[in-house]
Amino acid sequence: MPDTKRKLFIKSYGCQMNVYDSARMSDMLAPSGYVETDQPDDADLIILNTCHIREKAAEKVYSELGRIRKIKAARAGDGHDVKIAVAGCVAQAEGEEIIRRAPMVDMVFGPQTYHKLPDMLARAEETGRSVVETEFPVEDKFDHLVQPSSVKTRSRGVAAFLTVQEGCDKFCSFCVVPYTRGAEFSRPVERVAAEARRLADAGVKEITLLGQNVNAYHGEGPDGASWGLAQLLYHLEEIDGLERLRFTTSHPKDMDEALIRAHRDCAKLMPYLHLPVQSGSDSILKAMNRKHSAGFYLDIIERIRQARPDIALSSDFIVGFPGETDADFEDTLKIVRDVNYAQAYSFKYSPRPGTPGADLEAQVPEEVKSERLQRLQALLGEQQTAFNASCAGQKFDLLLEKPGRYPGQLVGRSPYLQPVHVTNTNAAIGDIVPVHIDAIGANSLSAHIV
Ligand code: SAH
Ligand code: SF4
Ligand code: F3S
Repeated sequence: MPDTKRKLFIKSYGCQMNVYDSARMSDMLAPSGYVETDQPDDADLIILNTCHIREKAAEKVYSELGRIRKIKAARAGDGHDVKIAVAGCVAQAEGEEIIRRAPMVDMVFGPQTYHKLPDMLARAEETGRSVVETEFPVEDKFDHLVQPSSVKTRSRGVAAFLTVQEGCDKFCSFCVVPYTRGAEFSRPVERVAAEARRLADAGVKEITLLGQNVNAYHGEGPDGASWGLAQLLYHLEEIDGLERLRFTTSHPKDMDEALIRAHRDCAKLMPYLHLPVQSGSDSILKAMNRKHSAGFYLDIIERIRQARPDIALSSDFIVGFPGETDADFEDTLKIVRDVNYAQAYSFKYSPRPGTPGADLEAQVPEEVKSERLQRLQALLGEQQTAFNASCAGQKFDLLLEKPGRYPGQLVGRSPYLQPVHVTNTNAAIGDIVPVHIDAIGANSLSAHIV
């Protein structure tokens, strides 16, 4: 029998929301016979799910398209018509421009239009012309997405992402997200709960609720009232089989009392919070339009630590925002010392077209940004190493996620998201096991089951 399956290669860039969207794109195409491959070379459809957050991220797409063009040409020589799609935030931001720069691209569509993928693909195949869909639609994509089979869900692992909130209305002056993902929107509680139940029934043990501004969540509850993220967490905690909950990414301004208390009272919520502050300088925070001061942030950290003393914290930082002086940068180092992070991401400011920050005059020279980034990363690196070292000798519950590199080895995640190796175990993937941390490596910890 001829092989009727068509092969789909999807590459995700950027944040976890893109990882979630890529999975849903694959689900949308499954009814048309597409199966995923991890090799672009033999794919019939290649989707790049792109990120526009920094210039480097956006430019990666064009270098990748250069490689893919060669695959398309080689396969055309063998009589195969390989379709190429650019999805995600670069697609939303650049639209038609992508086709101008890379004419072999067949489809361009943004984060809110991928539910139309089968239809766009049919149009591209019928007409042989490129299809661009970047208007924000009136309908909600979530109402049109295909539910995957439980086997497919389980094949993606025992920890899953679930988007509960989309878009952002905050308009931080450096950020493209409000333009690429559109206005803030929360999915209704019962829709989220149904998806979470489906995941749990398929064997998923841990769910990370996603949104670019996830703690602004205000979905319609079963009682018709607007529910906050804390209420949603308590509701999801009731689902049998689901053992761990996380959420990301939060904005300090939306860290309300109920959510802070959930870190004490919601037993399945993990003691790890990613709460980006970006800068420790009040004047830079103001220029970034973050709408809070360094003191406000420190106060929230203090209250969260009171609610949940064993919480570990993570953040994002931008160095070299326009107008950032040496003294402003010292304030950033100071807030890092004050908080003491378990982990953090840090970036050089990248001016993004269409954002207010890009038009500011006092742009910081590249070499100053590089030097500041180095100093910040050295400090954050020390804190991360110290945090990991402090885990030696401790007992954690580990969610076993995948086989390790060596026979008999399994890799799991600690409550603090650290990868942890265990050996010589009869436990299975998906089990949550108590472990004793034996040794701290550069990138992971090792442990034995107790
Ligand atoms: N919604 C999240 C951030 C999403 S973007 C929040 O509010 O914190 C992820 C991170 O990328 C940001 O936290 C920021 O640190 C970084 N980032 C965003 N725009 C950037 C830019 N123009 N230049 C450099 N880093 C940027
Ligand atoms: Fe971007 Fe700010 Fe919205 Fe986060 S809160 S997505 S940084 S605009
Ligand atoms: Fe990037 Fe879009 Fe996520 S710009 S960080 S992929 S929301």
